[in-house]
Amino acid sequence: MIYTVAVLAASIVYFIYAYNTYPPIAENETFLSEIGEGFGEIGLWALLFIYARTLLKLLMGKGALARRILPDYSPPAAASIFERLLCFLNRTHVYVGIATVAVILLHIVMMGIPLDNLFFQAVLVLVVWQGLFGMFLTWRYSPKELKKFSHLVHAQFVTGISLGMFAWFGHLLID
Ligand code: HEM
Ligand code: HEM
Repeated sequence: MIYTVAVLAASIVYFIYAYNTYPPIAENETFLSEIGEGFGEIGLWALLFIYARTLLKLLMGKGALARRILPDYSPPAAASIFERLLCFLNRTHVYVGIATVAVILLHIVMMGIPLDNLFFQAVLVLVVWQGLFGMFLTWRYSPKELKKFSHLVHAQFVTGISLGMFAWFGHLLID
C-alpha cells in the first residue's frame, strides 16, 4: 500500500510537470496505428489475466514453487474447479507471458509516437524486464543464483503496480 501510494504520488508530480512542459502530440491515425490499438487492448487484458493468477494463488495460499512448475504435474482427481483452473494457468504462464511481452512491444512500435515521456520509457523497460527475468527463470541452464534473483525480481507485484500506473498516466498524458 505504501509503495503504491508512493508511485502514485511520484506519477502525479511528473504528470503535472510533463503536462506543462511538453507540446501536445498530433493524433496520427494510420493503418498500422489502428491495428496497434487492438494490440494495446489485448496487452491490457493479458496483463489482467496474468495478475489474476497471482491473486488466485494468494487467495488459495499456494506456495511451493517446485510443485507448480513440474511439467507433468496434474491436480488430484478431487481438486476443486479453482485448483484445476490455477493448475492450467500455471502451466500456460510462460506462453501467455511471452505473448504478452510481444503484443505490448508490437503495440508500442505500431503506435509510432516518440517515446519522449518518462511514463512510456519506464513501461518499455518494465515490460522488457519482466520478459528477460521470466526467461532466466525458465531457462534450464540459468545458474542457481541467477534463478533465485530472477524469481525475486520477476514474481512479484512491485513491477506490476508501476507498470499499470505508468501505462495509465502515460496514456492520460498523450490524450
Ligand atoms: C502496459 C503497456 C500498455 C498497454 C496495456 C496499453 C494499452 C492501450 C490501450 C488499451 C489503448 C486504447 C486503444 C483504443 O483506443 O482502442 C492504447 C492506446 C494507445 N497507446 Fe498504449 N498501452 C501500453 C503501452 C504503451 C506505450 C509504452 C506507448 C508508447 C509508445 C503507447 C502508446 C499508445 C498510443 C499512442 C495510443 C493511442 C492513443 C489513445 O487512444 O490514447 N502505449 N494503449
Ligand atoms: C509481462 C509479462 C509477464 C508478467 C507480468 C509476469 C508476471 C509473473 C508473476 C506475477 C509471477 C508470480 C506468479 C505467482 O507467484 O503467482 C510470475 C512467475 C513466473 N513467470 Fe512470469 N510474467 C511475465 C512474463 C513471463 C515470461 C515471458 C516468462 C518466461 C519466458 C515467465 C516465466 C515465469 C516463471 C517460470 C514464473 C515462476 C513459476 C510460476 O509462478 O509459475 N514470465 N510471472
